[in-house]
Amino acid sequence: MSLDETARKPHDLMAAYLATDMERVNALIRDRMVSEHAPRIPEVTRHLVEAGGKRLRPMLTLAAARLCGYEGDHHIRLAATVEFIHTATLLHDDVVDESAQRRGRPTANLLWDNKSSVLVGDYLFSRSFQLMVETESLRVLDILSNASATIAEGEVLQLTASQDLSTDEALYLKVIRGKTAALFSAATEVGGIIAGASEERIEALRIYGDALGIAFQIVDDLLDYGGKSAVIGKNTGDDFRERKLTLPVIKAVARASEEERAFWRRAIEKGDQRAGDLDRAMALLARHGAMEMARSEALDWADRAKRALSILPDHELKGMLAALADYVVARVS
Ligand code: IPE
Ligand code: IPE
Ligand code: MG
Ligand code: MG
Repeated sequence: MSLDETARKPHDLMAAYLATDMERVNALIRDRMVSEHAPRIPEVTRHLVEAGGKRLRPMLTLAAARLCGYEGDHHIRLAATVEFIHTATLLHDDVVDESAQRRGRPTANLLWDNKSSVLVGDYLFSRSFQLMVETESLRVLDILSNASATIAEGEVLQLTASQDLSTDEALYLKVIRGKTAALFSAATEVGGIIAGASEERIEALRIYGDALGIAFQIVDDLLDYGGKSAVIGKNTGDDFRERKLTLPVIKAVARASEEERAFWRRAIEKGDQRAGDLDRAMALLARHGAMEMARSEALDWADRAKRALSILPDHELKGMLAALADYVVARVS
């Protein structure tokens, strides 16, 4: 590997390896995100899609299919399907979270309104179903439609887990496995299925995606406190404002003194947030080592993801998938 290559992020390396496929995925996304009848649709989708995004999930589908020797075309459709589902959930999620920034741009709910975000999100969901039907694989439809339902369940479960200080790590895991890991695991699993891989390999790909997605979301939740808004392209502090019990907060609450507990009750349960509260919360996370503990759990999940790869065939992409697991924990954006 050249110096230039080692300096690049693992997902850039994988993107370069899969560049021809990814260009086709992007062309398909551009082709299907438009609408002849409602000009608001291409306005909103272009705003979000042209802002980029890491394209991690479609890359996972392409990588899984290629790793299993696939030579057909359906992986392109599946990768676009997965990115459409992701984009639809982002539009809805930013309404639910009242977020103002995404991919370094003002959110669609801010630029247009909640109505446009919800309806264009619904449109993209439906477009994703049209795309996956084109693969004529009932098994793929089963997995991706289940994933869509599971994502929605995870987001709804989070609604009731938020603002509730008794939310524990098991419930947090259930939420993030639903809202985030379900799409990562579906992305890798359908790649194996479309390639006609053995059941053992398909299962390994599913386990890899699940563990990778969990590590990814734990780190996303860390970045919401410790990241730089200009780098992550989203506002920090959103989770505190939304009173979410993310992993570092759960760990700090479990170790809180009486006085600290009174703070968490006021800010998270009652929602009585005052100037300086976010800084106080961050100081408490630091005092209890909550960020480091959560990061170490993300590392464990990344290790689990890497271990799942062991039964997969030797392939350049296998090493890239392992490096991707390291990257999702080390990432700053
Ligand atoms: C954002 O996902 C939603 C989460 C699951 C945290 P990404 O961070 O992959 O979003 P983009 O596509 O790169 O913007
Ligand atoms: C991400 O939820 C999961 C989905 C979009 C379904 P978050 O609310 O934690 O992610 P960000 O921080 O808005 O990207
Ligand atoms: Mg959000
Ligand atoms: Mg968030």
